Amino acid sequence: MELRKAFVEMTTEQLAGMLTEEEINALTEQPKHDTQGDLAFPCFALAKQFKKSPAVIALELAARMQHPLFDRIVSDGPYVNAFFDKGKVSSYILQKVLADGAAYGQLKTGEGKTVTLDFSSPNIAKPFSMGHLRSTVIGNALANIAEKNGYATVRINHLGDWGTQFGKLITAYKLWGSEEKVKQSPIQELLKLYVEFHERAANQPELEDEARKWFKQLEDGNAEAQALWNWFRDESLQEFGGIYEMLGIRFDSFAGEAFYNDKMEAAIDLLEQKQLLSRSEGADVVELTEYNLPPFLIRKSDGATLYGTRDLAAALYRQETYDFSRSLYVVGQEQSLHFKQLFHVLEKLGFGWANDMVHVPFGFILKDGKKMSTRKGKVVLLQEVINEAIAMAEESIARKNPAIADKQKIARTVGIGAIIFHDLKNERMNNVEFSLEDMLAFEGATGPYVQYTHARACSILAKASGRASEGGSLALNDVYSWPAVKLLLAFPDVIGNSFEQNEPGQIARYLIALSQEFNSYYGRVKILGEDGEQAARLALVEAVTIVLKEGLRLLGVAAPEKM
Ligand code: ARG
Repeated sequence: MELRKAFVEMTTEQLAGMLTEEEINALTEQPKHDTQGDLAFPCFALAKQFKKSPAVIALELAARMQHPLFDRIVSDGPYVNAFFDKGKVSSYILQKVLADGAAYGQLKTGEGKTVTLDFSSPNIAKPFSMGHLRSTVIGNALANIAEKNGYATVRINHLGDWGTQFGKLITAYKLWGSEEKVKQSPIQELLKLYVEFHERAANQPELEDEARKWFKQLEDGNAEAQALWNWFRDESLQEFGGIYEMLGIRFDSFAGEAFYNDKMEAAIDLLEQKQLLSRSEGADVVELTEYNLPPFLIRKSDGATLYGTRDLAAALYRQETYDFSRSLYVVGQEQSLHFKQLFHVLEKLGFGWANDMVHVPFGFILKDGKKMSTRKGKVVLLQEVINEAIAMAEESIARKNPAIADKQKIARTVGIGAIIFHDLKNERMNNVEFSLEDMLAFEGATGPYVQYTHARACSILAKASGRASEGGSLALNDVYSWPAVKLLLAFPDVIGNSFEQNEPGQIARYLIALSQEFNSYYGRVKILGEDGEQAARLALVEAVTIVLKEGLRLLGVAAPEKM
């Protein structure tokens, strides 16, 4: 935040080379108690150099520090505590937020650099699972946050459109499938065939051989196998497209696993050149014993490549094509070992950029405390969940605001926003208990609560239109506005931290805090009143709408002006 920067610069100047600006910034704290000021600098690290006690250093340092935005800078034991001047700070930040608008909080950290984000990445011919929903929502938010940090982004949907399961699917379709049924409800029907394959193969192991044969045919370009695969893929993509459209999510690339078919050979050659391939039970692997990890499978004994082989080719391709400075994989924690292995293989190949690759895992979605799974056909179809959320949102809106126009459109925004926000509000690694009631509550830490706060602030502004006196002072000196003002100041920091930690939840929790502080301000202070501070109060209301809307946008949630 700007004020922190001012404080750090001032301290650096006073300490004239004893510590660098970065060191001072790292040491500077935000005290938990208001009595200790808004920023604090501990002097312990200086005791040796100055040959004085930290308390004496703090006393002397504080005496020399002055700044127009600070009310006072005083020592408290070994600390220098700085107190903001509420009026000057509010005036400064309100002017800034109003002038910057949605661009407020835009950082430059990532300028000229690119982040690739591999997220969503569902599997063809299988339902879009709740796990894929998490990846989609988290990945999209991280991409928005990366852009807000100044990075260019590439949003990649690494579709699961290749692998031995397509051998199984083709086998099942040829034996028991019906073209008509698949056309009617593609994913449901293809899933049925897949499940049937597994049930039957338990007693008929020859089915597995048949499936292997078909996959080999597919890899070798057999026309019939290719045509079936194409058809399954197109139908699936169409269904997924509907989900992305509802969620308002787009991708820059749908280069899935199949895209790397003609790129794996080069990756394998590279491993060979560096003598990293070894034979293990007829298969080609990269040994990772030095990392205490099992070998990474590159090619099975029948010559077939694997999921990992494609990920290796994909990593090489992405580095070459996008020259990323960071490469994120938003994929469930079940695949942690896979990504550890992949990154170590790249390291063994001698690529320094292997260090820029990050697996971003997340917790499970639970229903009544149990993990949701798709394998045995136990799926919650996402489309149904979304429809239910929208219906519930419509009901609440009708109850709260029966006269509102565009009810359905707003209900969509609220219902979908509720699902996204519910997913993002906790730390990523936490499991999420799936409950539509909890998601859609208008009170508590929910998306609708933040959206509602935003809408309420918008309606105050609408009521006040024409009232705000142009050019009036934006200084707020009351204590009730201060927590909200401080949160407005903190927004850029939250954006930086949530990116560094790959935690969109930090923004979600920030928005809840800002909503709460704003609502309690609103409950205590009469905003519209003809006194000298009305313009400043309205500016605060407007700044809050700007930041709530922008914060929600980063999470992938829209903010209606009425609800
Ligand atoms: N399709 C995989 C799955 O559903 C996820 C792919 C993740 N991305 C990757 N590059 N491996 O489990």
